[in-house]
Amino acid sequence: MSGKEIEKIAVLGGGLIGAGWAVNFLWKGYPTAVYDVSEEALEAARKRVSGSFDYLAAKGIVSADQARVAMGLARYTTDIAAALKDADLIQEAAPERYEVKRDLLAQVDRFAKEEAVFASSTSGLLISRIAEGSKHPERCLGAHPYNPPYLIPLVEISKGEKTAEEYLQRAYDFYRALGKEPIILRKEALGFIANRISVALYREAVDLVWRGVCSVADVDKAVTFGPGLRLALMGPNLIYQLGGGQYGVKGILHHIGPTVEDWWADMADWKKWPEGWGDMAQEGVLKEMEERPASQGRTPEEIARWRDDGLITLLRFHGKI
Ligand SMILES: NC(=O)c1ccc[n+]([C@@H]2O[C@H](COP(=O)([O-])OP(=O)(O)OC[C@H]3O[C@@H](n4cnc5c(N)ncnc54)[C@H](O)[C@@H]3O)[C@@H](O)[C@H]2O)c1
Repeated sequence: MSGKEIEKIAVLGGGLIGAGWAVNFLWKGYPTAVYDVSEEALEAARKRVSGSFDYLAAKGIVSADQARVAMGLARYTTDIAAALKDADLIQEAAPERYEVKRDLLAQVDRFAKEEAVFASSTSGLLISRIAEGSKHPERCLGAHPYNPPYLIPLVEISKGEKTAEEYLQRAYDFYRALGKEPIILRKEALGFIANRISVALYREAVDLVWRGVCSVADVDKAVTFGPGLRLALMGPNLIYQLGGGQYGVKGILHHIGPTVEDWWADMADWKKWPEGWGDMAQEGVLKEMEERPASQGRTPEEIARWRDDGLITLLRFHGKI
């Protein structure tokens, strides 16, 4: 091996995202060591991984044999040195705090191969700050998945001030070979691309409920049965291109441009959550869940399964699985 190919992987933190990444890596044939801080956490990770493979097998995405072989490539350990020893890619998926990620990186500096890629799953922390104090900031980058990582193709690759292009490219090539849709951010941005857009939409959704325009359930309905259906197929620029007639994407400026500026002037631009929103949202969502068709699930577990069934249909339509 050249030392530059990614053959073995270590996942640090086997929670929702770490276990999800492990499923993806194992599914594609990469021996993967999952490290977590306790035997209980590892047991939970093992269960998540086997539950996900059972699901993929039930959906006909992998055969029972493939699932068995894939799960045989996993190693679960509380010994971080053992997890890191052979890894060519380290996918960090520990809690979203700078100090946790920096402590892990110190262990990586100690036990991992010098040329191994360190890829943090952070949802929006700055890589430059995570890599502060690391002996090898050149190999540190962000590789942010969307949940569940083994189904959703997007991986946002972000760099810090000292990240080397060579590592970004290696990560990009690896995630592409894994079947993902990676994007390399050209510069650092808190929250990256997709989460910034998600929370911009969510701020307006919160504000509409907060100012009494609609209920929690109705704002969800508006997104699900309106723009959400198109957004699952294409991004906002292409949507406006199709809607712009002879003007193409510029049509939005010609047709409703000035009106949109009036809307923007009236829309939410607060920077702090409205006080009490958490309780209001919780009450609204519990009601929304109770009123869903039973066939589409009413508990979080049932709804997540129904969501994954829908994702698989969409991913097949996109030709991604
Ligand atoms: N939840 C999401 O939808 C989502 C999506 C994309 C990215 N992320 C990011 O992924 C990371 C993990 O999030 P999650 O949702 O899987 O959290 P989680 O709480 O489900 O899992 C975290 C895991 O880390 C383990 N852990 C705790 N301390 C640790 C340590 N010092 N070293 C190693 N492992 C440790 C915990 O035991 C747990 O198993 C975060 O950075 C988060 O922002 C989350």
